Amino acid sequence: MPADKDEGGWSSYLWNSERKEFLGRTGGSWFKIIGFYIIFYSFLAGIFIGTIQALLLTLSVYKPTWQDRVAPPGLTHSPRSEKSELAFNLNDVETYLKYAKSMRDFLEPYSDEKQKDPLKYEDCGPSPSPYKDRGDFDSDIGSRRACRFERTILGPCSGIEDREFGFKEGKPCLIVKLNRVVNFYPRPPTNNESIPEDAQQKVQPNVIPIHCTHKREEDAGKIGEIKYYGIGNGFPLQYYPYYGKILHPQYLQPLVAVQFVNLTMNTELRVECRVFGDNIKYSEKDRYQGKFDIKLQVTNL
Ligand SMILES: *[C@@H]1O[C@H](CO)[C@@H](O)[C@H](O)[C@H]1NC(C)=O
Ligand SMILES: *[C@@H]1O[C@H](CO)[C@@H](O)[C@H](O)[C@H]1NC(C)=O
Repeated sequence: MPADKDEGGWSSYLWNSERKEFLGRTGGSWFKIIGFYIIFYSFLAGIFIGTIQALLLTLSVYKPTWQDRVAPPGLTHSPRSEKSELAFNLNDVETYLKYAKSMRDFLEPYSDEKQKDPLKYEDCGPSPSPYKDRGDFDSDIGSRRACRFERTILGPCSGIEDREFGFKEGKPCLIVKLNRVVNFYPRPPTNNESIPEDAQQKVQPNVIPIHCTHKREEDAGKIGEIKYYGIGNGFPLQYYPYYGKILHPQYLQPLVAVQFVNLTMNTELRVECRVFGDNIKYSEKDRYQGKFDIKLQVTNL
């Protein structure tokens, strides 16, 4: 038989009929090896799937889980401008038209007509009040209503009567907002220690105060009076927390208008605005975190 001649050769290694071995192993031995690998890899796959599942369970669709790592909110203003500079000439409409235009666009979502739907908006009171709990993120209530914010609160900076926001008279307005951070509860200051003296009287319950002043010592006394328009002249707590884009699609941030009513003309001035709160921090790296500064130059020549 040809198989006999092949004794000890390749084909008998492949299948040794005498000893009933395949590739040098018996059926029972193969069975054990294959069984071992099946169990081993199933086990690995199990660990892998389990880990992913556990991770997914802790991640909610609506709420960022690693909230602690989200930086405190940025403080930004409209009009935004290149190099944070607001420079214009009272006598030349062209120099401030772009600012007024961008502020009108910014305020568009805040117009009365946009906030009519009672299923989407509700009144949250004209004065600062505590956080508004709108249920758990994971509850099946679905999307939440947003607090209305009426433009009239911004007074002469509302753009309703004066469509140029004070620029024409050399009393420019800035509209300031705290950027949205999902599930962030801004906490008002609990003491006056870290707050500049002339801002201390702004500390009151249920509001995050904002204060603007000269950034450089040499500008002291040149900025003139600054007026603030907003609920409690700051950021009232009833507008927080924000539930995120999916659950809070109509959300409007509370705004504060800052108006410089007696600026020194024809001089470049540096102004810095800050909000104050227990969990509001400033950063060297992020110049908008909790504060911003802006160059102002109004020319009347
Ligand atoms: C901070 O100071 C102002 C005025 O000096 C005072 O009205 C206010 O109650 C103080 N707030 C706190 C939290 O100490
Ligand atoms: C405006 O500022 C000037 C000093 O820059 C001051 O003399 C004047 O009294 C201020 N006007 C008002 C209405 O505060």
